[in-house]
Amino acid sequence: MKIVLIGFMGSGKTVFGKKLANQLNLNFYDLDQHIELKYQMSIPSIFTNFDETVFRNLETKELTKFISKDNFVLSCGGGTPCFNNNMELIRTLGVSVYIELNATALCDRLLNSKITRPLITGLSPHELRQKIELLLSDREKYYKQADIIISGINLKPSSLIEVLDKF
Ligand code: S3P
Repeated sequence: MKIVLIGFMGSGKTVFGKKLANQLNLNFYDLDQHIELKYQMSIPSIFTNFDETVFRNLETKELTKFISKDNFVLSCGGGTPCFNNNMELIRTLGVSVYIELNATALCDRLLNSKITRPLITGLSPHELRQKIELLLSDREKYYKQADIIISGINLKPSSLIEVLDKF
């Protein structure tokens, strides 16, 4: 089985993905961590030393490698489905799952997050909210192409496993 998790920054893809993989006895991969390990550079460093386009191309390159893998849960970066026709690739990789949260919930989570995210670094709470709304309105059309759309509020692996069983 191949499950690909997508959703906005802060939607809980990585934490949830690890739990899900554990319960389903599948390998877990996080695309960002995979890139950081492979290129020995943090995501913020890739953005500052190169630019977003370089990051997006690495993302697509590494995503493509999952075509030859099996039995995994893969958590993508928030922007992964929205560039280079990646959503098409994601849909051919396996069952795609969009973890959906609204701008208010995402803003709350991102305000409390300790992770450095280049696209939202240094923003005031008001600017963060505006940025989330802007990005989300652009990205939802990609996210909503997922096979399964599930709410990120109190999401438990068992809830998704139930849906996957009927899929
Ligand atoms: C990004 C999300 C990040 C990371 C990069 C860009 C985005 O991943 O890939 O900072 O464009 O939304 P998370 O969704 O895991 O934060």
